[in-house]
Amino acid sequence: MNTETSPEVFQNAKSQIEAIGFMDLDIDPTLDLFTAIERLKKEKNAVILAHYYQEPDIQDVADYIGDSLGLAQQAEQTNADMIVFAGVHFMAETAKILNPTKKVVIPDLKAGCSLSDSCPPPLFKKFREQHPDHVVVSYINCSAGIKALSDVICTSSNAKLIVESFPETQPIIFAPDKNLGAYINKVTGRDMLLWNGACMVHEIFSLEKISKLKVRHPDAKLIAHPECEEPILRMADYIGSTTGLLKYTQKDDTREFIVATEAGILHQMMKQSPQKTFIPAPPDNSCACNDCPHMKRNTLEKIYLCMEYELPDINMDEDLRKAALKPIQRMMEISAAGGL
Ligand code: 13P
Ligand code: SF4
Repeated sequence: MNTETSPEVFQNAKSQIEAIGFMDLDIDPTLDLFTAIERLKKEKNAVILAHYYQEPDIQDVADYIGDSLGLAQQAEQTNADMIVFAGVHFMAETAKILNPTKKVVIPDLKAGCSLSDSCPPPLFKKFREQHPDHVVVSYINCSAGIKALSDVICTSSNAKLIVESFPETQPIIFAPDKNLGAYINKVTGRDMLLWNGACMVHEIFSLEKISKLKVRHPDAKLIAHPECEEPILRMADYIGSTTGLLKYTQKDDTREFIVATEAGILHQMMKQSPQKTFIPAPPDNSCACNDCPHMKRNTLEKIYLCMEYELPDINMDEDLRKAALKPIQRMMEISAAGGL
């Protein structure tokens, strides 16, 4: 295997990556990517952090797989020189905000998030100004610009804890996910003002098809991510973050689960409980998959390339980084105090 990259090839690849913003370069088809990635990890003192929605091969080469909170905690603590973030842009950006001296690379710069896109900072700034008595709790699935306009960040695993850290009388804006916000309103009895954003993957599930599936599998439990819409959550036997869902399937004696979240998580569920059956909740269209098109932009080939060329990497204005760091740090402190 040729592991050397000539300066010309490197420069050519670098210009292509810079020009197109993501990588679509040819790789020697005989290259064993698993071995090559392990070599690059050692050579570059790199760590691969992957979200559960990544394709199975990526999860299998990752050093840590987790939900958004776990990934942020790992990014903050790591001693690696390079963080390879196998997830979407806001996750890699959060890693850079928390640990700015590290190089943070992402396999595909175009791996965005429909939820994050539903909340543009200029519009949100105006909205916030219209409600000066409110504090802002923002879900981590948002841009650095939105984080900088927030008082505290939350994830699906700590949203209840974060919201309850404010007195009951405190008016709160919750952005950008209206479904998670409505769910937290329900479990806390609060009446937060919700930004009208949603995730394209979690809004796609069909109540009718899930109901039919439950008839065919009467012992199966429905487990759902709180980004799902209220009628799905009302039917669910358990609601939680991706880590919460995974732990529930390990602990619970049920042998069959209908899983209402992105299908990538099934890889870990099946690995950790091979004797159990996991059925992806059916979407409301003719496509049989619940894949996030953003998460699935990442491939093993792109992981290899971004490690080899250390591109594309995340960079941001230092004032923006500092402003976005404050509410993330507040989340980290409340989470740690709450044992998360
Ligand atoms: P968690 O993994 O934090 O539950 O978030 C799910 C998600 O939508 C990530 O984009
Ligand atoms: Fe964004 Fe939804 Fe994809 Fe998560 S699953 S990255 S919230 S679009």
